[in-house]
Amino acid sequence: MENIHEPGAAKAEQSRADGDLLRAVVAVCSDVLGLDTAPDDEFSDVCQDLYDASHIVGLLNQWLGCTMVVSQLFQEGTPRRLAAALHGTEVPHFSPEIRERREGQGTGTAATENQTSGEAPWRKFWETTYRFSGPEENGGLNKAGWFSSRTLTPLPDDYMREWVDTTSARIASLEPRSILDVGCGVGLFLFELGPRCSRYTGTDFSVEAVERTRERLEHDGALSHIDVLAADARDTARLVDGPYDLVLLNSVVQYFPNMAYLREVLTGLVDTAGNDGIFFLGDIRNRDLHRAAHLSLVRGELPPGTPVERVRSTVERSMAQDPALLIGPTAMAETVAGIGPGLRCHTLVRRGSHPSEMNRFRYDAVLSSGTPARRTAQHDVRWDPATAPRPLVDLLTRAFDENLESLLVRGAPDARNFVDARLAETIDAAPAGTTLEQAIKATGSVDQVDPEDVWELGGDRGYGVAVAPSADPGYVDIALCGGGDDWAAAALLP
Ligand SMILES: C[S@@+](CC[C@H](N)C(=O)[O-])C[C@H]1O[C@@H](n2cnc3c(N)ncnc32)[C@H](O)[C@@H]1O
Repeated sequence: MENIHEPGAAKAEQSRADGDLLRAVVAVCSDVLGLDTAPDDEFSDVCQDLYDASHIVGLLNQWLGCTMVVSQLFQEGTPRRLAAALHGTEVPHFSPEIRERREGQGTGTAATENQTSGEAPWRKFWETTYRFSGPEENGGLNKAGWFSSRTLTPLPDDYMREWVDTTSARIASLEPRSILDVGCGVGLFLFELGPRCSRYTGTDFSVEAVERTRERLEHDGALSHIDVLAADARDTARLVDGPYDLVLLNSVVQYFPNMAYLREVLTGLVDTAGNDGIFFLGDIRNRDLHRAAHLSLVRGELPPGTPVERVRSTVERSMAQDPALLIGPTAMAETVAGIGPGLRCHTLVRRGSHPSEMNRFRYDAVLSSGTPARRTAQHDVRWDPATAPRPLVDLLTRAFDENLESLLVRGAPDARNFVDARLAETIDAAPAGTTLEQAIKATGSVDQVDPEDVWELGGDRGYGVAVAPSADPGYVDIALCGGGDDWAAAALLP
């Protein structure tokens, strides 16, 4: 390193760094596009699909820590010019084996058997995503694949930490001693919950994820009760030895090709979950809020004077580029009803105060025959913000002050997504020529409640709290129950 200050050495170092950067860009493009990309290939020739372009940009942002946007890819035009535009960006751990690993990926593993055409693109997506992610940092959090849909940059650390902590706490409150973690990825939950269990098995169809997780486990003798294996979700039941107290599918179902596949996975795993077993399906993309979610993504980029026709077409385009499996809470409950007799389905909005897309537009579904059976609340109120004399939070506070045993409030406007859900309806109904600004004004404003505030308020007063998405998008049902048990409160939900 000493002679780096000499001009010749510095120049050589710089051209090595530039070479690494170009190879990094080419490697990402080749992996995402599934073809040998050359430095001077025109993106407009080799990358026709906007989804692939977004994936390339997301991976470069994730791996190199840059903040690119998709239009830059096409403006620069080729990998060489893109690398030149990123000049000075360090490649954290460029490994020449990256290409060989791509060629050798997945051969002879369970993950390659029985693939349906629907799974294959997602498997490729995840192999690539894990290959170009950094090592575990920030207290062991590997954020591979956790991009913001708006900026295509990794989600902030505090968002992810809260998300992992609140999800782990919800799972841990079910007190599982053994967990089967289907689609475990690089082990965000395996390393968090595994040490508290006597048995933990993670499975994933990404060989890259399984290898990485295994390597990490090998360094920790205290985790020898945890194992991981490569498997498609559909094959998992026949490859593991049940029963497990809890079967976890966190942020996985959205990558299933269709509802039939989900039904097949759940039906296959019923015995693996045992008699009182629980399925925790976390981070489900809510179909009922799909339009609102995409509207919230695009509306910040549109000038206030944009006519609603253009807002509508921009939202439609954004939705068309989102191939995830979406399931509304009602459809989820109906699906579960067909899986096993006695299985109850609780759909719960996520905990957390950060306005992440996961907290705003997704929910958890907990299926179990062991959680308390449905009960009737002491007070059952339908909330009407238009006629209510006081804010909803006053009603809740009064319930605590009066020591109500239990309360169910149906149809409270959810501060996390109410405006976008109503705006989506207004924009669909508005006559041509109405501007985005006018549509926002026409949506009006009503008293809304942030579910996390209810949890905090209730928790402070010793109440159990459960908040579920209502049948009407943008609203939630809130259940409170004395005694501090959130699952007892969940039993009050409709
Ligand atoms: C968003 S990551 C979630 C990882 C982990 N469960 C978590 O919450 O951090 C989705 C994971 O599901 C895996 N996956 C998606 N579809 C799958 C399938 N059909 N079978 C097995 N794994 C799958 C992917 O490889 C990826 O690791």
